[in-house]
Amino acid sequence: MDRIRVIGGSRLEGTIPISGAKNAALPLMIASLLTADTLTLKNVPQLADVIQLGRILGNHGVDLTIAGKRPGDAPGQGQTFRLTAHDIVDTVAPYEMVSRMRASFWVLGPLVARMGKAKVSLPGGCAIGTRPVDLHLEALRALGAQIDLEDGYVIASAPKGLSGGRISFAKVSVGATHNALMAAARAKGETIIENAAREPEVGDVAECLVKMGAKIDGIGTSTLTIQGADELKAAAHTVLPDRIETGTYAMAVAVTGGDVMLDNARADLLEEPLEVLRKAGVEITTTNRGIRISRNGAGLKPVKVETQPFPGFPTDLQAQLMALMSVAEGTSTIRETIFENRFMHVQELARLGADIALDGDVALVSGVKGLRGAQVMATDLRASVSLVIAGLAAEGETVINRVYHLDRGFERIEEKLSRCGAQIERLSA
Ligand code: UD1
Repeated sequence: MDRIRVIGGSRLEGTIPISGAKNAALPLMIASLLTADTLTLKNVPQLADVIQLGRILGNHGVDLTIAGKRPGDAPGQGQTFRLTAHDIVDTVAPYEMVSRMRASFWVLGPLVARMGKAKVSLPGGCAIGTRPVDLHLEALRALGAQIDLEDGYVIASAPKGLSGGRISFAKVSVGATHNALMAAARAKGETIIENAAREPEVGDVAECLVKMGAKIDGIGTSTLTIQGADELKAAAHTVLPDRIETGTYAMAVAVTGGDVMLDNARADLLEEPLEVLRKAGVEITTTNRGIRISRNGAGLKPVKVETQPFPGFPTDLQAQLMALMSVAEGTSTIRETIFENRFMHVQELARLGADIALDGDVALVSGVKGLRGAQVMATDLRASVSLVIAGLAAEGETVINRVYHLDRGFERIEEKLSRCGAQIERLSA
């Protein structure tokens, strides 16, 4: 199994191209199930999760062709995917597939909307809390699907197709919003989704659905009104830049006291995290090319942060912020409100010398003068990248085991960082 070795202490300088967002690319790929025509997606990141979802969709009958980079493409430009679900050959998503990636559960809505039936295994994915699917099921019921649970599978049926309805989510869920939105795009009549997730990736999917022929009002707000279409058609869409990757590299630069241009990054996608970094003493300049991050000389100030749905501070940057704050001058308070049990990186950061006390959903991070390299274990996607950040700041060698978690969500991380002067390499088993 691959490992990553980081020798800490180098200042990062240069340019890092930001890739297309994983969390938009995945539901956009799934949206291809809604039409018999070809959906063209540009700027798709090269990630293990994307490849895995391609296989899962292939199982349902989606033909996928991938075009690589072409001469003249911008350096950060991702791949172009052409997905055609001309015939859906199988409406079953088996356990072996869905258990590897939670987002593949989102095929449920599109499949039942187009085919009138779907059988999808209950999901797996990152081990961060229980992560139920009640909101997904409630949404599909509101659109007229009959839902049964049998032997670990969700069986959804709507022989006469779905009809529009009112969905009012008790809690904000990104995945349930995607599922509901995609299903509503092919339901008969009008659907209103209240308390919808406002994450930019939801907006990206909604904009793609509009190009495919759905009518959607309220994109970017918490109330979405969708007029479903009998048929959706071919469209081309460019995946928006990854705000989590952007925030992650911003913190990596901040921890090394470096100066890096994050090419293609969009500040409007992560205003709250950038504000937190400014408060910590990081210099941030937004240009039309991207976001420049720098920190010269002065120490990092502690911060008080609570994770929240968008536009709040994202849970997907919580671990990275904790790594950064572990070398701040003072004690930071970080509260995780989205997922229970999303503190597994704490014990690994402690192996590097971080001083973090947990009290329920709150972590008190007392900054230390310096971290020291050690062997650590990646436990989930975002936790593993927090160990890279800590390793960049630590004295000596840090070896991160189980890096397949990193490959699920960060494109060419060791190449992007080493081009900016980091000493980081992959040790292949
Ligand atoms: C998505 C993101 C993930 C991110 C998360 C929160 C993708 C591929 N993944 O995950 O990176 O960390 O949003 O921003 O985009 N919940 C329920 N019932 C449900 C569904 C969710 O109670 O039916 C709860 C979850 O347990 C959690 C909260 O709602 O406490 C938010 O989860 P949700 O937004 O659904 O996360 P995902 O869509 O799985």
